Amino acid sequence: MILIKDNKFVLNTLNTTYAFDILETGHLEHLYYGARIDFSEDLFEFEVIKIKREFPPGNTISYDEEHFSYAFEDTSFEISSTGKGDVRSPFVSIIHADGSRTSDFVYKSHALKKGSPKRKTLPGSYDENNNSETLVITLKDRSYNVEADLYYVVYEDKDVITRFVDLRNTGEDEIKVERLLSLQLDMNDSDYEAVFFKGAWAREMQSYRTRIADGMHVSKSTVGTSSSRANPFFMIARENTDENMGECFAFNLIYSGNHMEITDANSFGKVRILSGINDEGFLFTLKKDEVFEAPEAVMCYSDKGFNLLSRRMHEFVRKNIVRGEWRDKERPVLLNSWEAAYFKFDEGKLVKLAKKAADTGVELFVMDDGWFGERNDDTTSLGDWTVNEKKIPHGLNGLCKKINKLGLKFGLWVEPEMVNVKSRLYEAHPDWCLANPETPHSEGRHQRILDLTKKEVREYLIESLSAVFSSADIEYVKWDMNRVFSDVFSIGLAAGDSGEISHRYVLGLYEIMGELTKRFPKILFEGCASGGNRFDLGILCYFPQIWASDNTDPICRSEIQEGLSYGYPLNTIGAHVSASPNHQTLRKTPMKTRAAVAGFGCFGYELNLCDSSKEEIDEIKKEIALYKIYRETLQFGTFYRGGKGPAKSLAPESASVLSNASGAGNIKEWTCVSKDKSNAVGMSLKKLALPNSQNTIYRPQGLKNDAKYLFINKELEYDIRDFGDLVNMIAPIHLKQNSFLLDMIAKKVKLPSEKEKYTASGKLLCTAGVRTCQDYAGTGYNENVRYAQDFSAKVFIMEEIPDIEKNE
Ligand code: GLA
Repeated sequence: MILIKDNKFVLNTLNTTYAFDILETGHLEHLYYGARIDFSEDLFEFEVIKIKREFPPGNTISYDEEHFSYAFEDTSFEISSTGKGDVRSPFVSIIHADGSRTSDFVYKSHALKKGSPKRKTLPGSYDENNNSETLVITLKDRSYNVEADLYYVVYEDKDVITRFVDLRNTGEDEIKVERLLSLQLDMNDSDYEAVFFKGAWAREMQSYRTRIADGMHVSKSTVGTSSSRANPFFMIARENTDENMGECFAFNLIYSGNHMEITDANSFGKVRILSGINDEGFLFTLKKDEVFEAPEAVMCYSDKGFNLLSRRMHEFVRKNIVRGEWRDKERPVLLNSWEAAYFKFDEGKLVKLAKKAADTGVELFVMDDGWFGERNDDTTSLGDWTVNEKKIPHGLNGLCKKINKLGLKFGLWVEPEMVNVKSRLYEAHPDWCLANPETPHSEGRHQRILDLTKKEVREYLIESLSAVFSSADIEYVKWDMNRVFSDVFSIGLAAGDSGEISHRYVLGLYEIMGELTKRFPKILFEGCASGGNRFDLGILCYFPQIWASDNTDPICRSEIQEGLSYGYPLNTIGAHVSASPNHQTLRKTPMKTRAAVAGFGCFGYELNLCDSSKEEIDEIKKEIALYKIYRETLQFGTFYRGGKGPAKSLAPESASVLSNASGAGNIKEWTCVSKDKSNAVGMSLKKLALPNSQNTIYRPQGLKNDAKYLFINKELEYDIRDFGDLVNMIAPIHLKQNSFLLDMIAKKVKLPSEKEKYTASGKLLCTAGVRTCQDYAGTGYNENVRYAQDFSAKVFIMEEIPDIEKNE
């Protein structure tokens, strides 16, 4: 709900309030964002929260003689610019025709609208029920012919407010936009910590929590995509905020290109939060009447810790970002051929693999890279989207039919934005990639980036991919993008416009994605970029899920997926079980652990099932069957993290997942509760076993207080070889380690796991927690002892027991 009275503005959601007003000078002054405050209708309480001004502080600049007490260096604004005394990092920076970089935006008018407006060039949030409300404030530069429309979209029931700005050149002369961000939030005190999610390939979404009262912190991407280096999602929080306590704010950007997030604490105890397109290398010319749309930013607040913040973000992303046929549909269990075969496959091998997959309960078979052109390694053929008939002699349709006959859906991998120099496409159109033909080109995976700023390139991609997608019953597409931008140069573009290329590329990409998802609404698209190099809300406006990381090691994955879970719901996160030793870390982990972690996401497999033993296949069958029972809970339920939330920042090398084994980070505790709270799935993952620590508590969250639940563990079987030569303590005959005899016996004799079975109220389970069976700690083992070695995961199921008396 939006309240407006005498230049005062209040944006209320169910549990939060955002307030600002117009200063005497005409500038928008930010006043408050936080827990809901019920202001009276005439908003007289603004007098309480407004800054009192009599004299400007120290050597600050006063706005003008008439407003001498207005020092912009110490004022909280809705948007800021350069040149009028505000020395913090600005929201907007423009080079005017006379060369001046001073801008001074003041209030011109405002309007209220129902629903959430659609952007012309960019994807954005949407509201199918038209419940949202939008406030548009038009600002005008006092000296130059430039206007800015500032949008605030209030999603009342989601406790989310989104913001964006359109900048308009209303004058005759060209202007150059050096920076135009999407979100500015000037907080009245700087006693916060920022939590950024940084990383690299195979190490995405590592949280970095750091104090922000000391100057400026920047998290940014310059690689052309939103990147694994720094996700656009970030949070700020009070020092003592943990998962279920304390104040925190979350921010995200609906954008897939270079972005930056800044916290800039000033000398007066205030902090400015900024987020938007990264201005490094950015310079956009606006001619008369042209408009620049800045991407939409998302903000959310919680006074009860990170879990509540995430839940609010999750609901918003699920209903107001993700769209299309697959938005609310359960995602199929898939098998992807990449780590099963890499480039080494043909139709026969794929069909064999698919047959095995079908037997285990997999629902979708995905043929990854290597099916087109002459592609047998990563040096050729990107751009040539025609099937390699040497490998797939019956074409996509022939293969698809064979896969469908096995009862599986069929899907495939594409990397549309790229071209190999060794390709027919490059031969025909060497000028279609981002490269400067006059200078040597840097290499990345032997491929170049197609110049999506060019209409003919976009048209080629739309038509060639449409031909692929309609050549068979393709029900899933993995859309990859495996190169960091370099040598950014567009042949044919005027030299002065080179600062527009990276952004125009993203706009071109959105146009292609928009058209193809419109033409093929039934296809389930999964975004991917060298794993999680482009996990963002821009992509999620088109594709309902994204591959989180090429790292499928469950220990690393627990960090990556937990990092993602702060801002993104589980049904947007692609997660697969792969082989052990893991291909990225060579770490050996139990299948049970790999399945437990991947289960908290869009679940699938990515390993050569044809090489799996019968025991493994049996285990996989059970895993898939169990996942299907609780799929709705895991994909659409409410997710809770245990623990204390992101730890204080560590240097990247010491942030290794194992370095904090003895600390809180050693155990990952996740719970997913179904929407109606009638069931829940929990996981407790132990990274390293700690000697002589026998007692573990698992604390579920989010159950109904007064309902009764049956709490059980997923029963497991243990391999006697995992106990080393301790097996001789119980074996009637001596068994030598690594002997044929031990292997034989191990195949037949399994140790059953401990059994947890309790009945208790939701309140008891969530408040006191469940003291699970004693962990093995070197002093004895029997059937009631938990075998909880390094990298072990325990899965718990909670089912509500119907209250028969109540129902009668
Ligand atoms: C990227 C993806 C992988 C796989 C390969 C294929 O690395 O992240 O999942 O598809 O490309 O080349």
